[in-house]
Amino acid sequence: MENLVKGTRVFAVDPARPEAEPVAEAAAVLRKGGLVAFPTETVYGLGANATSEEAVAKIFVAKGRPSDNPLIVHVADRESVAAIAKNVPPTAEKLMEHFWPGPLTLVLPKQPVIPLNVTCGLPTVGVRMPNHPVALALIRAAGVPIAAPSANASGKPSPTVAEHVIEDLAGRIDMVLDGGETGVGLESTVLDCTVDPPVLLRPGGVTVEMLTEVIGQVVVDRGVHSAEAVEAPRSPGMKYRHYSPKAQVILVDGPVLQMQAKIKDLMYEYQQEGLRVGIMCSMESRGAYQAPVILEYGSRDDLPGMAGDLFSTLRAFDRHAVDVVLVEGVPSVGIGMAIMNRLRRAASGRVVSV
Ligand code: TXA
Ligand code: MG
Repeated sequence: MENLVKGTRVFAVDPARPEAEPVAEAAAVLRKGGLVAFPTETVYGLGANATSEEAVAKIFVAKGRPSDNPLIVHVADRESVAAIAKNVPPTAEKLMEHFWPGPLTLVLPKQPVIPLNVTCGLPTVGVRMPNHPVALALIRAAGVPIAAPSANASGKPSPTVAEHVIEDLAGRIDMVLDGGETGVGLESTVLDCTVDPPVLLRPGGVTVEMLTEVIGQVVVDRGVHSAEAVEAPRSPGMKYRHYSPKAQVILVDGPVLQMQAKIKDLMYEYQQEGLRVGIMCSMESRGAYQAPVILEYGSRDDLPGMAGDLFSTLRAFDRHAVDVVLVEGVPSVGIGMAIMNRLRRAASGRVVSV
């Protein structure tokens, strides 16, 4: 089924039948240098032929993306890595074996075939093999590696359904493959494998605990636990304001009862200033608050579920015209580390610890 939104063609694709006609058409668009948004298991990506400088340049324009934030190159099999990256260390091979296809991006020394606008001038490239039938079918059909950032307008929460992509990018890209809701809900883990031990640059679906189990030591970059621009950040994308609804986000972190008390205090203060306050909390906390807008993002007993709802919930506040969103944090264990990393950045570092 095809639908045209401001000139962008939107096709529904059943993930159970990824070889369908629209995928072949999307692959043709990519080969011709166009832009196609497609589902992955993490978030929707905005794809272009990674070997074409001209095609890649269009991604930065469509998203309004700063030109010093490098893109991840997506492949459909491990054999394709050698053409894109060189000096692949045994640790990286081991990680591919364990976690690919899946939400893990490996940063490796780049091969010359990848133009410098993909890596923003860096001598390294991020590579990943997504675990989604539509993404894999598209990359295979295109026959080239696909550079793809998240398919949101720069600064917005990443898209977990095709509607988010359309909201941000309709009229700016050629095509959207709508494969329904993504699974993990936040972006891949980014691991710098050019150093030993490898350094975690962005927490994501593959957790530190999972990485450590397979390769032993992993160093967590200090930028992961802050929202501030660290000096010369190693993952350049981490320094920008990100994941933000229109409202100012404030993250409150600590034991549940203290968080609830602090959020109530802050709500009162902001309301005294005449501001309209929204609260984003776990379903367990829902009953603790009385506010004009309260949106739940899952159960504290199910952190992967919370990760899945995180971005769509942040986005939903735009429909409620609030000035401030007070968000409950989660424990920084497992995928909780990635949730807290995104929330700190959505809050631009406005974190209240209790
Ligand atoms: O799950 C994902 O990774 C999604 C889907 C579409 O695959 N993609 C995604 O791309 O999140 P993007 O562009 O939104 O984020 C890419 C991140 C940025 O933080 C960027 O700085 C980092 O990866 N990155 C890319 N290449 C890098 C490199 N050579 N060195 C260090 N960091 C790099
Ligand atoms: Mg992004």
